[in-house]
Amino acid sequence: MCGIVGYIGYKQAASFLLDGMSKLEYRGYDSAGVAVMENGRIRVDKCVGRLDALRQKLAGRMPVGTMGIGHTRWATHGRPSDRNAHPHTDPSGNFVVVHNGIIENYLSIKEELLAKGHCFLSETDTEVVAHLMADLYDGDFESTVKKVLQRIKGSYSLVFMCQMEPDKIICTKKDNPLIIGLGEGENYIASDIPAIINETRRTFIMSDGEIATVTADSVWVQDINGVPISKKVFEVSWNAEAAEKGGFEHFMLKEIYEQPKSMRDTMTGRVDAEALCIKFPELNWSPEEMAAVDRIFIVACGTAYHAGIVGKYYLEQLAKVPVEVDIASEFRYRHPLVDGNSLCIVISQSGETSDTLAALREAKRLGARTLAVTNVVGSSIARDADQVVYTYAGPEIAVASTKAYTTQLLAMLMFAIYIGRLRESLPEEKAKELVKGLTLIPEQIHQMLENVDQIKVFARKYGSCEDAFFIGRSLDYAVALEGALKLKEISYIHAEAYAAGELKHGTLALIVEGVPVIVLATQEDVYDKTVSNLQEVKAREAVVIAMGFVGDENLAKYADHVIYIPRTGKYLAPLLAVLPLQLLAYYAALTRGCDVDKPRNLAKSVTVE
Ligand code: M6R
Repeated sequence: MCGIVGYIGYKQAASFLLDGMSKLEYRGYDSAGVAVMENGRIRVDKCVGRLDALRQKLAGRMPVGTMGIGHTRWATHGRPSDRNAHPHTDPSGNFVVVHNGIIENYLSIKEELLAKGHCFLSETDTEVVAHLMADLYDGDFESTVKKVLQRIKGSYSLVFMCQMEPDKIICTKKDNPLIIGLGEGENYIASDIPAIINETRRTFIMSDGEIATVTADSVWVQDINGVPISKKVFEVSWNAEAAEKGGFEHFMLKEIYEQPKSMRDTMTGRVDAEALCIKFPELNWSPEEMAAVDRIFIVACGTAYHAGIVGKYYLEQLAKVPVEVDIASEFRYRHPLVDGNSLCIVISQSGETSDTLAALREAKRLGARTLAVTNVVGSSIARDADQVVYTYAGPEIAVASTKAYTTQLLAMLMFAIYIGRLRESLPEEKAKELVKGLTLIPEQIHQMLENVDQIKVFARKYGSCEDAFFIGRSLDYAVALEGALKLKEISYIHAEAYAAGELKHGTLALIVEGVPVIVLATQEDVYDKTVSNLQEVKAREAVVIAMGFVGDENLAKYADHVIYIPRTGKYLAPLLAVLPLQLLAYYAALTRGCDVDKPRNLAKSVTVE
C-alpha cells in the first residue's frame, strides 16, 4: 500500500513528484524516494522517514530533469530503511522501478540472479524486479518489461524508467491501483487521483494486465501481447481543495465535519423525499432475482466490517434475509457455504483492500451474486463486483475512517429498505417512516457538530487513561465496536467494545475505579437491560459516560456524564451515535500529542494480505 507518482513533460519533475507524494502519504509513509533522469543518467534519492526527511535531503540539491518517478513506502519486505526505500535500481543503474504490492515469487528469482552473480542491496522484493529487467534486457525497454511480467507473480503496480530510452516511462498493474493523468506536452502517473488533481483533471484508470508507455506527448496502452487498448478518459469532478484540509487542523476533523454533506450526497438520487421511498437506479437486479436470495454474506475489514455488522441488523430486521458478517481476511479460509442463491456484499472505502477483493473473488467463484459498497469510483472492488453502490463521501484522506463509515451505514440502511420493499417484507408505512427519519439526519449531524465542547472536556479529562471500554446492546454494540477502534487507532489508548450483557462473563474483572466506560443507550427495546449493565460498572467505580437521546433524564441518575444526541428511530441512531465517539477519539489523540491523520504502523489503503 505504497504511493506511486510519475511525471514526464517539460517541467522539473522533482517538484511535481514531491507534491504528488505528499497527497499520497496516506498510502504509506515509512520512507520515500525519487528517481529523476538527470543529464541522461538516472539519479536516485531516497531515505527512511516521512516525506519531509526526503525534502530535507534534497534541499539545495534538487534533481534536475523533466522525467521522474517517486514513491512513499509502507514496508512489507524489509524494515523501513534507506536501502529498502524505493526507487530500486539494477547494479548498473540502467533501470529503476517503484512498486506497490508484493512479488510473491521474488525469492526464487533472487536465488537465480544470485547464482548469476547479482548482488542485492536491499531486502525488498522490488529490487529483484529491477535486477530482472537488467537480466532480461533485449535492447528494447518495452519488450523487456513484458518479459519481466511473464516471470513475476503476485500483486503490483510497477513504474519503470530505462536509461537507454530516456524519453518514456512504462507502467503496469495487477491488483493494485494505478491511474494516468493527461496534460498538454506532459503526462502523469499515480496510484491515486489526489496526487495529480493540482495538475490535471483528465485521467484514466489502468486495468490489470495493461502496460502503458508514457511519453511527454502520448500514452500508448497495450496488453502483454501487444494488442492496443483504448482507454476511456474521464474528468475528475472533485477539485484539489476537496482533497486538502480546507482550514481544519487535520484531515480527520475535516472529514468528520463533512458528514452532513456526504450523507446528503449519498442520499441524492436514492431517497425520494416526496414519495418517501428508496430507489437504486444503478442496480439492475430484478425483484425475482432478489427474491431468490436466501442468504447474504457481508464481508469487509476494520471500520467497513463494523458497518457490515450494522448492515446485518438492518437486512435481517427490515428485509428478513439471514445475514452472515465476515472479516475479509477470514472469509476464504472458513470455507463459507456460499452458493448461487447467496448475495455477497463487500464494503470497502478504498475499494482496494486486498483481503476484501480476494473475498469478493472467492464469493464470485462460488457462484454468489456480488455487490460492492465503495467510495472509490473505478476501484478494483467496484470493477470486480456484479453491481456497485457508491458512497459519495468524497476523498477520505485520514487513516481513521469517519465519513466513509457513516455513508456505509447509510448505504446499508437504504439498501435494506429497498430490498425489504422489493421482497415485501417491510410494510410501506414502516419504510416511509424510516425514509422520513433519514431526510432529517444531515441536519441533525450538523447540529451535533455545532456543539462539541463537552467532548473536548471529556477528552482532556480522560485522555491520559490507558484503558477504556465501550458497551451497548444490539445496534449500540455495533457502534461501540467502531468507537473503540477509533479510539485505539489514533490515540493508542487500549479500548475494548463489549456487548453490554457479556461484560460480566469475564471482562468485568478489568473494571476498576476510574476506568472510563462509555455506555451507549439508544436502543429502546434493550434500554432497561443496558441501564442495568451501566449500574454494574458504576458499582465497580468506573467513570461512566452514557449516551442517550435528548430528553432521557434517566441516564443522568446513574452515569457520571451524559452525552445527548438528537432523538431519532432505533435504526437511524447509529448514524448519530458514532459522531461523539469519532470526536472523542480525535480530541483524545490531540490531547496525547498523537499524529492524528497518520497513526503509527497504519496506512489508509491496505493492499497487502
Ligand atoms: O478501504 P477499506 O474500507 O476497505 O478499509 C478497511 C479498513 O482498513 C479500514 O476501515 C480501517 O479499519 C480504518 N483505518 C479504520 O479507521
